[in-house]
Amino acid sequence: MNKDNGRVFNFSAGPSMLPLEVMEDVAKELTNYMGCGQSVMEMSHRSKEFVAITEEAEKNLRELMNIPDNYKVLFLQGGGTLQFSMVPMNLLKKSKKADYIVTGTWAKKAAAEAKKFGDIKIVASSEDTTFSYIPKVNKEDFREDADYVHITFNNTIYGTHYGYIPDTGDIPLVADMSSCILSEEIDVTKFGLIYAGAQKNIAPAGVTIVIIKEDLIGFAPVDIPTYLDYKVHAENDSMYNTPPCFTIYVAGEVFKHILKNGGIPPLNKLDIEKAGKLYQFIDNSKLYKCPVQEDSRSLMNVVFVTGDAELDKKFIAEAKAAGLVNLGGHRSIGGMRASIYNAMPAEGVDALINFMKKFEEENAK
Ligand SMILES: Cc1ncc(COP(=O)(O)O)c(C=O)c1O
Repeated sequence: MNKDNGRVFNFSAGPSMLPLEVMEDVAKELTNYMGCGQSVMEMSHRSKEFVAITEEAEKNLRELMNIPDNYKVLFLQGGGTLQFSMVPMNLLKKSKKADYIVTGTWAKKAAAEAKKFGDIKIVASSEDTTFSYIPKVNKEDFREDADYVHITFNNTIYGTHYGYIPDTGDIPLVADMSSCILSEEIDVTKFGLIYAGAQKNIAPAGVTIVIIKEDLIGFAPVDIPTYLDYKVHAENDSMYNTPPCFTIYVAGEVFKHILKNGGIPPLNKLDIEKAGKLYQFIDNSKLYKCPVQEDSRSLMNVVFVTGDAELDKKFIAEAKAAGLVNLGGHRSIGGMRASIYNAMPAEGVDALINFMKKFEEENAK
């Protein structure tokens, strides 16, 4: 618990903590945005105020991620989940083949959804070790005529992350970056399409960011639902229908906040320090174990176990009582998971490590 503001340290995998400063600023203008007499929640999405909010959010995201002009930035709805379908519906344009690397539950779901639309090949998978690592792949592993390759850059449930960007040659690379966007500098030009739900590093749930290279737009079959065609959103500046206005506004405030504080590099430095401390503590401890191979560990989601399911439950309950909440692993795998996204302060990780030390002493066999 943070004594200054009465807030707990929330280790939820998403929705998750947002920068306090941003939420306080949002609260200040919640009922009257910049003197216009209305809340952003009440505003027409066609109003000049809201159009300015969206344009600024896009401009700032472009600056933060260094997104080239030949990429469109779209603010959509439907979460990462809808992208599992929109990607194949729009990108299976020639051979109708796509290659997927399966590194966890979300990657598996993405591949399963794509199978409804084309010839999908799982070219690599780490399921043999319960997704404890990121497989190494190279250009020769992909089908030459594949329309795209899909990866899940950070695996929220299993706590793994790509330490490299797979070389797919001329085949467009599509990445689900829902749980790591804005945590590290990435070269957008290496990707054909990047998507991310907002509810981890960006904003409350409700908006999904899609960054797509222009030459991949315009190939969707005519008979798909209008909303599912990227071209429709690109041509309408994400205003084809009513967008998730308030979430886009908060996302824009988060982008401004990050820019004001020096952009992604200082955040990444802090993320490396936070995760580094936690992994080091786990690796040196007798009680806790991280099942993830060292070169595949995520900076955002730190997974660990005691090896005793009852003790794990006790840990989660006692941590909660100490103001360290949402430390349970995903319901599919159990154990513990500390999601330490950009907005988790270093003090939160320190408080967790102190709690883990105390719990270990009290529960030594
Ligand atoms: C990596 C990843 N992809 C996709 C999803 C699904 O996202 P949504 O719930 O926004 O549809 C999640 C959810 O946590 C995720 O972590």
